[in-house]
Amino acid sequence: MMNRLIRPTLLGLITLLLPMFLWAEPQPLVFSHVVSPNTPKGKMAEMFKSMIESKMGDRFEIVIYPNSDLMDDDEAVSAIAEGRIHFAAPSLSKFEAYTQKLKVFDLPFLFRDIEAVNRFQKSPTGQSLLTSMDSQGILGLGYLHNGLKQLTADRPFTQPGDLAGLRFRTMNSDVLIKQFELLNAEAVPMAFSEVYSALAEQRIQGQENTWSNIYSKAFYEHQPYMMISNHGVLDYMLITNSDFWKELNEEDRDMFRYALEMALKYGNAVAKAKSANDKIELTSMKSISVFKPSASELATWQTAMQPLWASYEDLIGENIIQAARQASRH
Ligand code: LMR
Repeated sequence: MMNRLIRPTLLGLITLLLPMFLWAEPQPLVFSHVVSPNTPKGKMAEMFKSMIESKMGDRFEIVIYPNSDLMDDDEAVSAIAEGRIHFAAPSLSKFEAYTQKLKVFDLPFLFRDIEAVNRFQKSPTGQSLLTSMDSQGILGLGYLHNGLKQLTADRPFTQPGDLAGLRFRTMNSDVLIKQFELLNAEAVPMAFSEVYSALAEQRIQGQENTWSNIYSKAFYEHQPYMMISNHGVLDYMLITNSDFWKELNEEDRDMFRYALEMALKYGNAVAKAKSANDKIELTSMKSISVFKPSASELATWQTAMQPLWASYEDLIGENIIQAARQASRH
């Protein structure tokens, strides 16, 4: 009699507790990136993690791999497309294998300042680029700023001709490669994680990057000459796998969207502060000589690099380049 009573109760208890055991482990969602935690992207990722985990930590865990610890950006973009990782925020220069349209961000001197970049990203054209790779498994959820790029080298330079014959690291983008070829320099595409040692071993003589990346990765230790060139932009697209996103329920998707919106706002504020602070850090170092070109000196660099706009018009789309130019006219 007793046994007959206990058995159903035990069975009921197991049925009740089983789902709890099954749900005990939150699903790990991988966010891979290549920069230090103390950068706009690093800080944004941490904010995203803490927002998601504070609201949905029983179900999701955001596992961040910074500093290329898991993979470099080229692999991260394909890992997102294939659904092997969940979030990444590669530079806009790293999507060449999936779309030609984002090359607009690589055109030298196209954006006057980061506000112009912001206006373009918020415009209908800028927003449409977020979904331009959706059919290939990559969905853009928003943009994040880092800042404008500066040129650095291991020897003095003031004129475009001074770079002739030097080897410059670029991101893996054919616009950026051609940009250096126009200056008769040799472009050497390589992953971000390899740049410091390539500079230290003098396999390259120069590079282009933002104040925040030059400072946080200590590129300046081997690049005593810098020019405040602001010649290009290094911004990011926060991406996820299209199927992963579509398979989330409506409520979760809204929560992820909200957390991303907040994290991107925060990351953009960090980008602004870091760009200003790291510029001060670098330009006040005694070991570094900073060339600040006059408007007419900068114009010679513009003249040397700007022919790229016309040569990429067909590939990128004239309407996209026009929308970007419009954003700089304000
Ligand atoms: C680079 O390769 O220089 C950048 O994409 C690194 C980064 O993510 O800021």
